[in-house]
Amino acid sequence: MGELRKVGFTETVLRDAHQSLMATRMTLADMEPILPVLDQVGFDSLECWGGATFDACIRFLKENPWERLRRIKELAPNTPLQMLLRGQNLLGYRHYADDVVEKFVEKSAENGIDIFRIFDALNDCRNLAAALKAVKKTGKEAQLTIAYTTSEVHTVAYYQQLVEEMTAMGADSICIKDMAGILTPTKGRELVLTLKSVTDLPIIVHTHCTSGIASMTYQAVIEAGASRIDTAISPFSEGTSQPATESMALVLQEAGYQVALDLEKLNEAAAYFRKIKDKYLDNGTLEAKMLTPDPRALIYQVPGGMLSNMYSQLSAANALDKYEAVLQEVPKVRADLGYPPLVTPLSQMVGTQATMNVIAGERYQMVSNEVKAYLVGEYGKSPVAITEDFRRQLVGDTPVIDERPANRLAPEFAKLTAEIGDLAENEEDVLIYALFPQVGKDYLLKRQSATSNPAEGTVAKEQPIKIYGFI
Ligand code: CO
Repeated sequence: MGELRKVGFTETVLRDAHQSLMATRMTLADMEPILPVLDQVGFDSLECWGGATFDACIRFLKENPWERLRRIKELAPNTPLQMLLRGQNLLGYRHYADDVVEKFVEKSAENGIDIFRIFDALNDCRNLAAALKAVKKTGKEAQLTIAYTTSEVHTVAYYQQLVEEMTAMGADSICIKDMAGILTPTKGRELVLTLKSVTDLPIIVHTHCTSGIASMTYQAVIEAGASRIDTAISPFSEGTSQPATESMALVLQEAGYQVALDLEKLNEAAAYFRKIKDKYLDNGTLEAKMLTPDPRALIYQVPGGMLSNMYSQLSAANALDKYEAVLQEVPKVRADLGYPPLVTPLSQMVGTQATMNVIAGERYQMVSNEVKAYLVGEYGKSPVAITEDFRRQLVGDTPVIDERPANRLAPEFAKLTAEIGDLAENEEDVLIYALFPQVGKDYLLKRQSATSNPAEGTVAKEQPIKIYGFI
């Protein structure tokens, strides 16, 4: 036998694990004491930023997300830090002009990010281009990412073509991102084998335990040649999170792979996070129901977070008896919209539209502005073309954009800098405002008044609105 093949690990406890289990509410204070230990485990990367962390920091935790990043870098200087970036949307909910994308990537790299995992909700590679170029300029790693979904058009051949395109664009690595936890071992194996035949780039697989199948899928994709998997340290694993780091490390090592993790350090970190988890369970931030697998995602092909969102929308409308009808409506809306992957913001758009169609009793009687914008191409290209009749029915003669949406956006960083004025002390502050105009400005205002008048600076803890990330 030759040399053992290495399997790499990305630890998600600092980002996706708590985003998935408890709406991204882990504070920096809870991370700090254990960062030096995590730094010594030997992870290929620590996913610690991006996704919903930035939003949660300023909206709920009143933390400066940039300071969080710098502090993590300071306490874990030896492990590459990784973030999740939503292409041209960055971490916000609209398309930004290229100069804002470039500035955001530059500042993220400067403050500590080494690996940028970049995806687009529609898998429209044109929406990855500006972020990719910006990452290349910093010399950091650009990990281009497939938003994995299932539908009659999302075949292995579809993903193969996508990865060929990403490889040609200059990706440094490829991630298969299964945000809904619906990648089965059989499909995962087939997908990785196919992708390995068209690219030499390392393939990283990201999935969730939502449906209860993730660790089987990891074993299958590793056997098929994937280089690295995303796992969460045991106290923050399973449920809607990732498989447990220690368990995957042990079984893969036993199966003959080289696993470079220090199991003693891992145990030390796990003991620490068990206490942290208990605290969040006790104060209700973490709900026990998030810890139980829900195979309905496999049946309905709808991410777990979307199911609970639709449930609460129906509950608010006193229409819980229509839950089954809404579930049946989702695939129909999705087909009408050209089979978008069910990931932010499309998951919310499709879920809300399906709910409105059922509640109104007539399909598309009410249509959100977001869906209208999507139909005219403002988010990019749908995986398959939307029929002209359907589009016309909803948006009339509004012209359709067929170029990269951001081509139509004039540079805006200077304008945003002027708008926020003295509230921003540096370019990082301008980016807080750029990404979250309302909440970001509030955060900067409160920070300013806290500095000038410390007594007024204590912000009452707001009751968190639970927004479970779909990403
Ligand atoms: Co995820």
